[in-house]
Amino acid sequence: MSRHFLRDDDLTPDEQAEVLDLADELKANPLGSDVLKGKSIAVLFEKNSTRTRLSFEVGIHQLGGQPIVVDGRMMQLGREETIEDTSRVLSRYVDAVVWRTFAQARIDAMASASRGPVINALTDEFHPCQVLADLQTIRERHGKLAGLTMTYLGDGANNMAHSLLVGGATAGMHVRIGAPEGFRPVEWVLEAARKRAAETGGSIELHTTPQSSVEGADVLVTDAWTSMGQENDGKDRVSPFRPYQVNTELLAATGKSDTSVLHCLPAHRGLEITDEVIDGPASAVFDEAENRLHAQKALLAWLVRRS
Ligand code: CP
Ligand code: NVA
Repeated sequence: MSRHFLRDDDLTPDEQAEVLDLADELKANPLGSDVLKGKSIAVLFEKNSTRTRLSFEVGIHQLGGQPIVVDGRMMQLGREETIEDTSRVLSRYVDAVVWRTFAQARIDAMASASRGPVINALTDEFHPCQVLADLQTIRERHGKLAGLTMTYLGDGANNMAHSLLVGGATAGMHVRIGAPEGFRPVEWVLEAARKRAAETGGSIELHTTPQSSVEGADVLVTDAWTSMGQENDGKDRVSPFRPYQVNTELLAATGKSDTSVLHCLPAHRGLEITDEVIDGPASAVFDEAENRLHAQKALLAWLVRRS
C-alpha cells in the first residue's frame, strides 16, 4: 500500500520531522539525490498556480525524474470520466500523482484508486505541502518548532488555516487562529488538530480579537481573504477581515522583537498584509516560497522510497 500526503496528519510527528530534516539536507545539496531517476510524476492542476507548479516541476527534475504537468481542466475528468478511472489509468503510467483540486473528497477518491502515492497540491480544505515549507522556514528562523506560538490571521475556515492547525500541532506548536465570527475553522479539522496537539504538547486556541491572538506570538501567518473558488460565494470577504491585516501595528502588538511573518503567496498587498511588513525585516515570505522546492523534494523522496 502506498503512502499518500492528502492532509497534514498523514505524517506522524516523527515522520514530519524526518521530512523536514531531509528538506534541510536537500536545500544544502540540491542535486544530492537521484531518487526519482527513471520515474515520471504527474502534476495536475484544476486551479491556478505559480509556486506549486514551478517548484514541483523543478524539484522532480532535480531528483532525476520526469515531471508531466497537465492543466487538469483539459483532462477528460472535466467531461465526466470518474476520478477513480482516471487514477487507475494514471497509476499505470506514472509513479506518483500531485493534484491541485477543489473538494478534499476528490483527492481522497484519487488516492483510493491509485497504486502510487498521491500528494495534495492544495484542496479547498488543506494545503499541506505549503505548511511543510512553512515549518522548514520557521525552524530556520527560530531553531525549533515545538513550543513556539504561531498565529494565523484571516479566513480561519480556509485551506491554510486548516493545514497550519493540523501541521503546526503535529510539530508541537501552539497554534492560534485570529478570525472574525463566521470564519472559524471547521469542527472536524479542529478535532484533528486537538488530537495531534494532545500527542505532541502543542495547543489550539481560537480568538476573535486580533490583538489577543498575536500577543506573545513568535510567528504571524496570513493568507488571501478570498481563496480560489470563493470569488462568488456571496460573502463580504473584505470588511470583516480589515482588523486582522498584518501591518506594523499588529506586528508590534506581539510584544516581541523577533516575530517572523509568513504568507504562502500570492499576496494582496494593502489587504491582508502591508508593503511595509512583507518587505520588512520580519518577513520570511520569500524564503518560505523558496522552501516549497526543498520541502516538496524531501516529501517526494520520502514517499517514493516507501511505495
Ligand atoms: N502558495 C502557493 O501554493 O502558490 P501558488 O498558488 O502560486 O502555487
Ligand atoms: N487560500 C489560498 C491559498 C493560495 C495558495 C487559496 O486557496 O486560494
